[in-house]
Amino acid sequence: MSKALTYLAKTRPEAATHLMGFYKHSVQALDEKTRHLIQIVTKVTVGTERGLRQYAPKALKAGASREEILDAVLMAFPAAGLNKVLDAIDVMREMDLLPEVAEASSEGETSRDLGALADFPVGRMRCVEHGGAALLVYRTDDGSARVYSARCPHSKANLCKGTDHGTRVECRVHNWTFDLASGACLEPTGGTGLTVIPSEVREGRIVLTGSAS
Ligand code: FES
Repeated sequence: MSKALTYLAKTRPEAATHLMGFYKHSVQALDEKTRHLIQIVTKVTVGTERGLRQYAPKALKAGASREEILDAVLMAFPAAGLNKVLDAIDVMREMDLLPEVAEASSEGETSRDLGALADFPVGRMRCVEHGGAALLVYRTDDGSARVYSARCPHSKANLCKGTDHGTRVECRVHNWTFDLASGACLEPTGGTGLTVIPSEVREGRIVLTGSAS
């Protein structure tokens, strides 16, 4: 339940009970995957990024393919118009919920060099793009650096758009918070930590030694 609904349930319990009852009992013939795909159509149509972020991962979890999710986004076009559909595609791509585009491979040609260690501030996160992936780089005060995927482990939001607390980064979508030195999830307790991208400092430069995808 969203925070707003939780608030309503406390401040207007009778109204909230009827509202929740409506949601619970009004849709009975549709299977879960179809329901969530239709939710995507409605969220794109009304232009709510928050709702899209909430329901699109549920569609995937309920068995929808990324192709079906893209179809649902496009189904909204007649009512939503092009701009809302394109905004939704940006959000869905950021969350890795749409089919990948087959791009000409440049593996081997792509530099694995993220830049000079000295160019990264100590104790602050810095975002870099590499091979189409957003990465978080965190330089520690022992002369090394940690590199992570910038996708939030909770629901794939881009942590580069989160709040930089210095030694921690907080996701702007559901406020999960991660320690940048270890990648561990600090809030909520027991949450999945950041995905580490293997790297090393070589001749004063940060170099990837593993895949960033
Ligand atoms: S996407 Fe939910 S906390 Fe980041």
